[in-house]
Amino acid sequence: MHPMLNIAVRAARKAGDFIAKSAENLKKVNTIQKGTNDFVTNIDTAAECIIVDVIKKSYPNHCIFTEEVGTILGSNLHYQWIIDPLDGTTNFIKGIPHFSISIALRIKDRTEVACVYDPIRDELFTSQRGYGAQLNSKRLRVSNAKNLYGTILATGFPYKAKQHSEGFMKVIGALFIDCADFRRTGSAALDLCYVAAARVDGFFELGLKPWDMAAGELIAREAGALCTDFSGGTNYMQSGNIVAAGTKVLKGILAHIHDNTTEAMRK
Ligand code: IPD
Ligand code: CA
Ligand code: CA
Repeated sequence: MHPMLNIAVRAARKAGDFIAKSAENLKKVNTIQKGTNDFVTNIDTAAECIIVDVIKKSYPNHCIFTEEVGTILGSNLHYQWIIDPLDGTTNFIKGIPHFSISIALRIKDRTEVACVYDPIRDELFTSQRGYGAQLNSKRLRVSNAKNLYGTILATGFPYKAKQHSEGFMKVIGALFIDCADFRRTGSAALDLCYVAAARVDGFFELGLKPWDMAAGELIAREAGALCTDFSGGTNYMQSGNIVAAGTKVLKGILAHIHDNTTEAMRK
């Protein structure tokens, strides 16, 4: 295993064990509202500290970019770790056992290693660029569905950007005629990994942040998925709007997004 992936896994497992333990006693969890429908708990911040400590011990010069603290500068600007310490905070707060720890390392602006860890199921999704994607060391391959018919699609509602509700619902309505069903799991990082594992045939969401996507995106692509923004381009890390699926399903999702949204929403 790439030594930096090894460190990512060590950090994710350590934070994951802590989060899973904390989930057993939710009465002790303190929740703060940081924005509209957007929450953070003391567990998110403590898990982030655990991850940053593990990385800093091995790579004190690397830069780190986290959801809760933001940028932690290091002297080597070529290395940037992107961390979501708890993806699925709403699930966590409500006692729904579906959340993850997401860690990616970008070297010279290209994601090289990634891991997403589901501590409840002890499922570790990993990838190194050019070496495929794995779930608990087993190789993953994206679904080979030929069209939207019969597919299960994952998505996330734009609960932090409700001005997009109408356009989003139009897309959902149009897609629902063609696909079999939807899943809204509450962890975008795991949604991308589930695309990699062919547990869902495709995923799309708007308004995500780099820490939601950085690791899952490499894992999905290394399993054979294509990732695009809502216009079929590669700007998803900037726009936050992502579609991930095998070629044919991706085409179907993009067509419905195109037909049911304004250009402003797709940007
Ligand atoms: C959220 C989850 C959720 C997605 C949201 C994200 P958080 O991350 O990934 O599935 O719909 O857009 O913000 O806030 O739980 O880290
Ligand atoms: Ca997140
Ligand atoms: Ca988070």
